[in-house]
Amino acid sequence: GAVRYYKFDVEYIFHKPDCVEHLVMAINGQFPGPTIRAQVGDTLHIALTNNLFTQGTVIHWHGIRQYGTPWADGTASISQCAITPGETFHYRFTVDRAGTYFYHGHYGMQRTAGLYGSLIVDLAEGQKEPFHYDGEFNLLLSDWWHKSSHEQEVGLSSIPFRWVNDPQSLLINGRGQHNCSMAGHLINTTLPQCKFKGGEECEPQILQVDPNKTYRIRISSTTSLVCLNFAIANHKMVVVEADGNYVEPFTTDDIYIHSGESYSVLITANQYSNKNYWISVGVTGREPTTPQALTILNYKTTVSSDTIFPTSPPPNTPQFDGYNATKAFTHKIIALKGTPKPPQQYDRRLHLLNTDNLVDGYERYAINNISLALPTTPYLAAIKYKIGGAFDQNPPPENFSADYDIFNPPVNHNSKTGNGVYMFELNHVVDVILQNSNELHGKVSEIHPWHLHGHDFWVLGHGEGKFKEGDERKFNLENPPLRNTALIFPYGWTALRFRADNPGVWAFHCHIEPHLHMGMAVVFAEGVQDVEDIPADSIQCGLAKKIVMNNKHG
Ligand code: C2O
Ligand code: CU
Repeated sequence: GAVRYYKFDVEYIFHKPDCVEHLVMAINGQFPGPTIRAQVGDTLHIALTNNLFTQGTVIHWHGIRQYGTPWADGTASISQCAITPGETFHYRFTVDRAGTYFYHGHYGMQRTAGLYGSLIVDLAEGQKEPFHYDGEFNLLLSDWWHKSSHEQEVGLSSIPFRWVNDPQSLLINGRGQHNCSMAGHLINTTLPQCKFKGGEECEPQILQVDPNKTYRIRISSTTSLVCLNFAIANHKMVVVEADGNYVEPFTTDDIYIHSGESYSVLITANQYSNKNYWISVGVTGREPTTPQALTILNYKTTVSSDTIFPTSPPPNTPQFDGYNATKAFTHKIIALKGTPKPPQQYDRRLHLLNTDNLVDGYERYAINNISLALPTTPYLAAIKYKIGGAFDQNPPPENFSADYDIFNPPVNHNSKTGNGVYMFELNHVVDVILQNSNELHGKVSEIHPWHLHGHDFWVLGHGEGKFKEGDERKFNLENPPLRNTALIFPYGWTALRFRADNPGVWAFHCHIEPHLHMGMAVVFAEGVQDVEDIPADSIQCGLAKKIVMNNKHG
């Protein structure tokens, strides 16, 4: 494969993602960052320079498994030290599977600040996708706040606790329209019929299609918080890919996409070709207070003197229905025939209870009563070089108390912070049963999209209530989807299986950034002794600094 070189300069810029000026974390002056496009077998070399004035940064390549290069996973305190202002770090890794991916900051809440972009891997020359299309589009979805990511971080870590609340806007490829009447150069005042003169930073990108052609639309969600529903007026979609894996194609009117997930859908431009159609992205899974993001499917055959704006209304985002539609959508996703099947047995099974807790009065999420607080020394170096005192050597609990009532918050909300690691034997088959529960306040339980670094997992099943002996008889061992992100539904469980075959240290966490910030994460490790070539400049922090020094002096 080829080596594809990208120079990425991370900096804050003034920008108008939703027509309102804000500081945005950009790459090379662009928001979202440049789209990386590679072919299977290529090596990506990204020279990342931190041009922020006062903070470190790292970038994670979401969905790329990093076989043999765990140090390039881009997770601060896990795979590397944050890159300090003025420094350049070289990520080098191969992309071994075609699919729709993205990248994003993985330090503090820099994803919320806008540090993200798309990463698309095409099949190698001569290889064919198991479906046909004539053209493609790529849509990276996100949510946007007018409150800075710093203010959000501090609010989440304060007493009293301040929740981030709903985003002001939704963005499609970094573009949304907060309030057209506020943006000076817009002619019309009411959404969605805002007009643009052209060239605005918040002007929607229009998807132009030829009648009767078929298009692949790649859709990924890097939202900080919200679950999204995506639909195109009058057009059915056929889902063919999820998280870089082919799925058994199915037809749908809309897709539900959560943070960390990606899909490819096929659409055929087979509607009345003298019209244009709205594409809508709306918040689902909570009472929507954030307006839809809209763009336009434009048939090239429409007469150019006509208005580009569709004459019929945009698709409605489905009303909140207690997650039934989301569940139905999730259950439609099964692996395409020919996808590797899961091992029928497991070697180790973890039961991970997700709870909302208090730690010394601070609101935190915990897993089996431990809320992750990252250490200063990156785990990868700490484990590889056996650095004593870098993190808690007691493994975190593999289970939770059998009498925990997931429907009622416990009287004693207290938990503690910790930074222990679940260590797996290399090549062991690991099951994770994620268990959801009631939140701290009221009768509430919500969806959490859990994302695993370094692996895909098979999603063996979802169930309501507490997981119990016998539920595993319902596991799908025939054609479960391979994914890197899976949902746990309110008051439910989700069963995942993966092979711990990738030497390294891997984050496993809720992809909702405020939840991650509040400790909703665990750390997995396997085969770290086999990891080679950890770059010295990735470990110049915490207790790892000494290793670099020692190596330098012989
Ligand atoms: Cu896209 Cu650890 O996340
Ligand atoms: Cu969550």
